[in-house]
Amino acid sequence: MSSRTVIRHGLVITASDEIHADVLVEDGRVAALATPHAQSWTADRVIDATGKYVIPGGVDVHTHMELPFGGTHASDTFETGTRAAAWGGTTTIVDFAVQSVGHTLREGLDAWHAKAEGNCAIDYAFHMIVSDVNDETLKEMDLLIEEGVTSFKQFMAYPGVFYSDDGQILRAMQRSAENGGLIMMHAENGIAIDVLVQQALARGETDPRHHGEVRKALLEAEATHRAIRLAQVAGAPLYVVHVSATEAVAELARARDEGLNVFGETCPQYLFLSADHLAEPDFEGAKYVCSTPLRPREHQASLWRALRTNDLQVVSTDHCPFCFTGQKELGRGDFSKIPNGLPGVENRMDLLHQAVVDGRISRRRWIEIACATPARMFGLYPKKGTIAPGADADIVIYDPHAEQVMSAETHHMNVDYSAYEGKRVTGRVETVLSRGEPVIVQREYTGRAGHGVFTPRSTCQYLN
Ligand code: URP
Ligand code: ZN
Ligand code: ZN
Ligand code: ZN
Repeated sequence: MSSRTVIRHGLVITASDEIHADVLVEDGRVAALATPHAQSWTADRVIDATGKYVIPGGVDVHTHMELPFGGTHASDTFETGTRAAAWGGTTTIVDFAVQSVGHTLREGLDAWHAKAEGNCAIDYAFHMIVSDVNDETLKEMDLLIEEGVTSFKQFMAYPGVFYSDDGQILRAMQRSAENGGLIMMHAENGIAIDVLVQQALARGETDPRHHGEVRKALLEAEATHRAIRLAQVAGAPLYVVHVSATEAVAELARARDEGLNVFGETCPQYLFLSADHLAEPDFEGAKYVCSTPLRPREHQASLWRALRTNDLQVVSTDHCPFCFTGQKELGRGDFSKIPNGLPGVENRMDLLHQAVVDGRISRRRWIEIACATPARMFGLYPKKGTIAPGADADIVIYDPHAEQVMSAETHHMNVDYSAYEGKRVTGRVETVLSRGEPVIVQREYTGRAGHGVFTPRSTCQYLN
């Protein structure tokens, strides 16, 4: 069924431009942009965006819906998590399918397709967590790339679960140098951290704040350095996930100054929260347990600076929610048993807009780090991440003046707390289109599970 929508009189913001323009959407794609009043477009639907921003839907390249982890499952399903994403102005997620040790990549990927298919409100894609590098796995990487799963996460942390040793990492990187895949690294020295965990517990240090103390910034930096040099030896690009420490940013900046294809993301929790939250009394700190951990407040300045200098290129959420009741509580009396992860898929676009309001980043940089670069980095551009003729009409009408207070009372994520409870921000999503279909209209949900489809990706489009 052919349909036409016109979005009138908004300020269209992309990573490269801010223009007052009307946008014509036809059959799910952007058909044209034109100066207001220049065209007499007829349409089935007219959206008045006067005084509003018209921005590309957010692209969140780091989510974990339904992830089995720490003896439980992340509390958002693909249905609840993608609906919450839409409420927050995100129209594409890239979630992590998991290879369990002893199983193939194919088995892991099939399981993730089964979880997501027919359930998503917005479009989705997959990275693959590689937990077991062997000859077969390496061959399977080539096949996955042909199917549009073009990036692979490895872990230097979590021995016995997701952990890869340096040899396994090098082998996967060598393969990705040949097949065009992008290795994403969880860079923490998990072997050393596990020693510090056991020593802390033996001293009776069992509270959530010790989670932050044992997962030292230096051990993030050391692993980041090692990952960079392994990638350099392999001749492969590298993307470091959830960067949180000043010392790790310095490693990335140095490698980039050397001209290496080394990239990094950070997440809103590292920009807006700190180790002070982990130290909240009565086990409340458990709400803030994630890895890499929240750092002392001083680290935030390095992250903001790196976002300005492009030593960090992407802000994604690492959305991995666990309810306080019954899930985070598994770690009462032993911080190492608190499931790791924070909710945030609904909050990212608003928190980064607040950074615009606060003068930390420009409006175009907001769109660059939250939409355009993640799409480019992971082979989704220009289908996703921009507003241009031919692009999918994944479009958000954003009210830059609306005030809101973030709260578990009002959010749509399936989790019983908000990491940003009580935080006031300026700016709010008003209307969301996914491939031209209204998902949120004037803050009413009009979407449906099953609208979102698997979106195959090309290889990285961001290499130097
Ligand atoms: O604590 C976190 N980040 N949980 C999700 C898994 C991961 O390492 O990204
Ligand atoms: Zn007019
Ligand atoms: Zn990780
Ligand atoms: Zn993650």
